[in-house]
Amino acid sequence: MGLDMNTAPVALSPEFKHQIETCPKAELHIHIEGSLEPEMIFELANRNQVSLAFDSVQSLKAAYAFEDLQSFLDIYYAGASVLLKTQDFYDMAYAYLKKAHSQGVVHAEIFFDPQTHTARGVPMQVVIEGLSRALVDAGKDFKISASLILCFLRHLDENSALQTLQEALPYRDHFIGVGLDSSEMGHPPEKFQRVFEKARALGLNCVAHAGEEAPPAYIWSAIQTLQAQRIDHGVQAMKDPSLIDYLARTRTPLTVCPLSNVRLCVFPDLSVHPLKQMLDLGLCVMINSDDPAYFGGYINENYLQTAQSLSLGPKDIQQLAKCSFEASFMPESLKRHWLLEVDRVFA
Ligand code: ADE
Ligand code: ZN
Repeated sequence: MGLDMNTAPVALSPEFKHQIETCPKAELHIHIEGSLEPEMIFELANRNQVSLAFDSVQSLKAAYAFEDLQSFLDIYYAGASVLLKTQDFYDMAYAYLKKAHSQGVVHAEIFFDPQTHTARGVPMQVVIEGLSRALVDAGKDFKISASLILCFLRHLDENSALQTLQEALPYRDHFIGVGLDSSEMGHPPEKFQRVFEKARALGLNCVAHAGEEAPPAYIWSAIQTLQAQRIDHGVQAMKDPSLIDYLARTRTPLTVCPLSNVRLCVFPDLSVHPLKQMLDLGLCVMINSDDPAYFGGYINENYLQTAQSLSLGPKDIQQLAKCSFEASFMPESLKRHWLLEVDRVFA
């Protein structure tokens, strides 16, 4: 039984692979708790005397066979239970930034989930200080710029989100925005209208996961009720032509995560992922890793496997990388600098 030579994607040339790997990129959709590798989970569990439901790295990895978003989240929150001290948050974030830097990421806007930690008695100060110090040190060591986005867990109620924002206010200078993540179905964006209004009044940027699994109405609501400046995932927008038209006209960015979508069974495999169609429709889209330790790859594995499966060409990669900077919250002068650098790679 041979491969169907009409449909099998052609391997990427070494030159194109090198361009993809070395091209400067911004990563805008990465949950720092999702960068916690199984080995580090066990290291921190030992260091902090936390007991895990798995007795080895192998048995933990074997559980990474997800059916949907919720089946992943159950394991993801269990993994995060080993984070207790400032140093733990530091080590996790520094390891991510080192890896991201090795893959051409020059700027990262990093989600963190404070409620996952404060609910276990870990003070907000411990979480934010550990992460912030790692960003500062990695900035010096790798010349990577990075900032934090505080996410509210949507399976919890809005009062918990309001309390979380309040608790984070002494550290207002340490994060640039707020986001909305966790279990999407049944927890529409409008549930968080007041807390996003408050965040906006504080001058924070607003983003939200929407249309990962849930229908386009969730994306409309994120835009209309939360005034989200970016939509995280947003792949379900492809079901609503008027929404596609709106997103293209307004250049509202969608932070797409291809390997995540396949691992969480949003699409059966990368060859049917809509990213190429999204690009061709003029949407502002880019590639991100979401939870790289759980989904089989960091940003370059996402770029390379998507490029291969969807037969993306240099123009597509150039467009994706440029959108990553266009959609970022970095200063305009820095944006212009990186947009020119991307063009140089593909000149
Ligand atoms: N938290 C971590 N990863 C997530 C995802 N893919 N969707 C929603 N919440 C998340
Ligand atoms: Zn996400």
